[in-house]
Amino acid sequence: LFQTVAGLRTYLATCRASKTIDCQIGLVPTMGALHSGHLSLVKRAREENTWVVVSIFVNPLQFGENEDLDNYPRSLERDLEECKAAEVDAIFLPSVGALYGTEDLSDKSRLFQVIPPPEMMARLCGAYRPGHFEGVATVVSKLFHIVQPDRAYFGQKDAQQLAILRQMAADLRFPVEVVGCPTVREADGLALSSRNRYLSLEERAIAPQLYRGLQAAKGLFEQGEMAREPLLEAVSLTLKKDARIEAQYIDLVHPATMEPLEVIETEGLLAIAAYLGKARLIDNLLLKTR
Ligand code: PAJ
Repeated sequence: LFQTVAGLRTYLATCRASKTIDCQIGLVPTMGALHSGHLSLVKRAREENTWVVVSIFVNPLQFGENEDLDNYPRSLERDLEECKAAEVDAIFLPSVGALYGTEDLSDKSRLFQVIPPPEMMARLCGAYRPGHFEGVATVVSKLFHIVQPDRAYFGQKDAQQLAILRQMAADLRFPVEVVGCPTVREADGLALSSRNRYLSLEERAIAPQLYRGLQAAKGLFEQGEMAREPLLEAVSLTLKKDARIEAQYIDLVHPATMEPLEVIETEGLLAIAAYLGKARLIDNLLLKTR
């Protein structure tokens, strides 16, 4: 368990020196409150690398002013046990100061940040969470510099984040393979998320409606519907079945560029965000022609 950059770097230098050939480091960045979705990334990293590093850091820079930074779920003891059981080699648990050189991130004009292409942030969550993806790109680039992983693992659940970080690794020439992993779901289809804890029992029961909406559109798509409006309409109709679900966006974009699609040529990302009580839930589905 490392809380300082120097400590982790020293450890990783030893790892790199101990196995001369084919020593590979896998990194799984998280904000903790680990669930089976996170653990699926860890499992994949464990299968593909000599050393596995999990970072646990609730990154203040990616939370907006009215967002849930202060209430974000934390379960460190359990997280550490889960990591141990998953045979993680090292956990990086930095303080804000260890990563940013200051505890006070309120004045962004004093911070060095990584800015993703505005076009990639114009739709989906980027449009509703100003500063969010700058915060994500900044912290992940710091983690890439510190750990210098061969592979880094991210969930398809956060499809826009995955696309932006893929592009960041390519454009900033990070020698890392960004690996996208499938969304892990509950039996009823609800995508696992740390934020599902905000749902009341009643809200939890209707939350799978998001996935059902995506499934409805997928059904149409499989019957040959490729056009934007009917696909979005199918999602929207399903969500409207329950008045407590308040859709923020329903959109169809290119999965790599995040540009809106009028029609699916080969691949489309159908994505939604919706409020259900206090919880803001997101989900998406990749629609691919064979
Ligand atoms: P966090 O929300 O903790 O998620 C960490 C990783 O787990 C992300 O790559 C996310 O996509 C993945 N994940 C979450 N739920 C998942 C699910 N149901 N199935 C599969 N993967 C899932 O995303 C972040 O943290 C932060 O933005 C971070 C990248 C750590 C930067 O601060």
